[in-house]
Amino acid sequence: MSREEEHERFDREIEAMGVRIKDANTVKVRDDVFDEVTLMALYKLVHKKLLSVIGGPISTGKEANVFYGERDGQGVAIKIYRIQTANFKAMTEYLAGDRRFSSVRGTRKGLIFAWTKKEYSNLARAHDAGIPVPEPLAFDRNILLMGFLGRDEVPYPQLRNADIEDYGAVYRDILGYIQRLYQEARLVHADLSEYNILYHEKPYLIDMGQAVTLDHPRAPAFLVRDIKNLNRYFSRYCDVPDEQEIISAITGTERRQPAQPGEG
Ligand SMILES: Nc1ncnc2c1ncn2[C@@H]1O[C@H](COP(=O)(O)OP(=O)(O)OP(=O)(O)O)[C@@H](O)[C@H]1O
Ligand SMILES: [Mg+2]
Repeated sequence: MSREEEHERFDREIEAMGVRIKDANTVKVRDDVFDEVTLMALYKLVHKKLLSVIGGPISTGKEANVFYGERDGQGVAIKIYRIQTANFKAMTEYLAGDRRFSSVRGTRKGLIFAWTKKEYSNLARAHDAGIPVPEPLAFDRNILLMGFLGRDEVPYPQLRNADIEDYGAVYRDILGYIQRLYQEARLVHADLSEYNILYHEKPYLIDMGQAVTLDHPRAPAFLVRDIKNLNRYFSRYCDVPDEQEIISAITGTERRQPAQPGEG
């Protein structure tokens, strides 16, 4: 079958499921992303009525592609981890130290599926803790469905491109999220940067596949790295406290004030 015929088959099969393909401009992306495994996962999500429109590509990252989609007229983000080109080795370290996933072994495919599930679980924990993150909707194999953060099919800008009036206030919001993530969701993001925060009226944390539970041996180092990244970025725009001070506050290891008489 020629390329062209493959694409036509792809469109026919997807459309046979009742899915509308909104953007004919995804030909190149299709070759890379929609292998048989991914198509099967997509079929399943559509069959379960979790997805009714597959829209255009939003982003091509190191490990994943993100597409716009819809479910019952509501925007969803479809994040597809590429089975062939994902960074297999880097993923292993984040999985192995995390008790939830430490038993994951074996094939590249298996690892990517575990990774997808891990991002879903991380989003769910963060969302349950009340942190602004995309709402996790479903996952199947290497596909994660989550609430779409944006308007008219356009995602909110990343923090680095956002129009921000009060940097100090945004910085404090983000520190508050990191603290809540640590203390309530018991997670460290582990890839926090001006790329993985979207901004519209307030910041939103995204891209949580690599986030780890606090019992991960490298959780403390990941937290330091996240704070360093944040301070590196924000120190251009506002005053930032010393990183050790922030970490003590987040982890609750600062020296407590002696209790007042009558307390406790
Ligand atoms: N829930 C969402 N709503 C709207 N846009 C999103 C959403 N999730 C991701 N995006 C868009 O896709 C881009 C990439 O997403 P994300 O950071 O999760 O993946 P990535 O960086 O490609 O992942 P990786 O580095 O693991 O390959 C974001 O910057 C944003 O523009
Ligand atoms: Mg990212």
